[in-house]
Amino acid sequence: MSASLATVAYIGAIILFIMSLGGLSNPETARRGNFLGMAGMALAVFATVLGPRVTAAGIPWIVGALVVGGGIGLYAAKKVQMTQMPELVALMHSLVGLAACLVGFASYVDTSTVFPTPVEKTIHEVEIYIGILIGAVTFSGSIIAFGKLSGRIGGKPLLLPGRHLMNLAGLLVVAYFGYVFLQSHDVNAGMLPLLVMTVIALLFGIHMVMAIGGADMPVVVSMLNSYSGWAAAATGFMLSNDLLIVTGALVGSSGAILSYIMCRAMNRNFFSVIAGGFGGGAPAPAAAGGAAQPAGEVVPVSAAETAELLKESKSVIIVPGYGMAVAQAQHTVFEITKLLRDKGVNVRFGIHPVAGRMPGHMNVLLAEAKVPYDIVLEMDEINEDFPTTDVTIVIGANDIVNPAAQDDPTSPIAGMPVLEVWKAKTSIVMKRSMASGYAGVDNPLFYKENNRMLFGDAKKMLDEVLVALRA
Ligand code: TAP
Repeated sequence: MSASLATVAYIGAIILFIMSLGGLSNPETARRGNFLGMAGMALAVFATVLGPRVTAAGIPWIVGALVVGGGIGLYAAKKVQMTQMPELVALMHSLVGLAACLVGFASYVDTSTVFPTPVEKTIHEVEIYIGILIGAVTFSGSIIAFGKLSGRIGGKPLLLPGRHLMNLAGLLVVAYFGYVFLQSHDVNAGMLPLLVMTVIALLFGIHMVMAIGGADMPVVVSMLNSYSGWAAAATGFMLSNDLLIVTGALVGSSGAILSYIMCRAMNRNFFSVIAGGFGGGAPAPAAAGGAAQPAGEVVPVSAAETAELLKESKSVIIVPGYGMAVAQAQHTVFEITKLLRDKGVNVRFGIHPVAGRMPGHMNVLLAEAKVPYDIVLEMDEINEDFPTTDVTIVIGANDIVNPAAQDDPTSPIAGMPVLEVWKAKTSIVMKRSMASGYAGVDNPLFYKENNRMLFGDAKKMLDEVLVALRA
């Protein structure tokens, strides 16, 4: 393939990627968006492999790598449970970071490129230094995020004494070694500062994500997504590959926008998230008799009683959370929705921006179960309708419906906007026990007078509710 044909293919791939992102912004066009992304990636890979920069001798290596990498990817995608998707995504981000590091070291030791001017050589070395820096932070940070999301590492923030000073010192050392690296006259002299910086960047990635508490993990997921994009863009600079630069920038900026949306959804400032420490420990005790103080007893209900309440209601709001994903209850939820709607009940869904474990988690599950999009509403669109709602059903959600976020300034999740389910005539919370949610915070909703607890696995309980509704 000639260089100009490869460039045309690259432009085609870039257009497909942009159209893909456009498609992914709406559930109705998301499937098409995915296909466009896949087509763009296939075109990009073909244009690169058959392009002018790959020699015939390199093709068997690339095909071998494609078969092995593609095989592992196919196996992982087939094996992964929906609830493990966030961990898989974190692991994928770590690979992008690792690739940026490896490409950085490979480009540095590859002395075959002759730079016409010293300035161009310096620019290339700056690209290498920054590329490895971003790659190493992304790599180790994503591995820790993987550990936290999969429960291998606890959600509590690790707050080392003087951590901000440590980070600042790390930054200064990285800047100093950057200067030493650029002054080095050969690969041997430059390798030591490069290695020192890589180790510091790896430690920084670990420290940064370890310091972030459970409640801030949504921002970390999207932030690492953004970093992986910038790592890919840096790789593009090192390899002088325009497509990689543009694709990396698309991922980097969309991840940054997502981080901003997540911060807004949680009423958090991006820099305080990075500073860490939010939503980790047990809540501080509220003042005696304070609104958020868990008090009284919980009132359990049966599936049959839940069905009775639903039959008598005119309007119902369903709030799904992580537990619905665990139980895979979305199909039964759809059956119940259909049945109630056929009886004339106004059924709608309230989706919190950080429900579940990844952005859009609940939307994906509901779309999979074929729940119509027009009854799936965002938190801001539905929050003021709770007071005029007869029954709210909370399915395996906890943190996103916790009134302590509003009532208790000492709560670790104070200030996070939540779905105000307790304002409905009756709220029913479906979960297996009194255990807390991801943020590890007690939930005063359970003790409210108008709240009922339907204990059990969400799928099993909803199946029973469905049977009772049909009876
Ligand atoms: P959580 O607060 O984690 O609560 C989920 C609840 O589901 C748990 O309390 C659990 O209680 C219940 N559950 C688990 N398995 C169940 C099953 N089989 N049947 C019925 N219930 C089950 O979830 P949420 O309300 O969706 O809030 C999301 C949390 O995750 C937030 O803190 C958010 O910050 C965090 N987070 C979000 C993301 C993104 S990007 N969305 C990423 C990382 C972290 P039992 O054990 O008693 O059943």
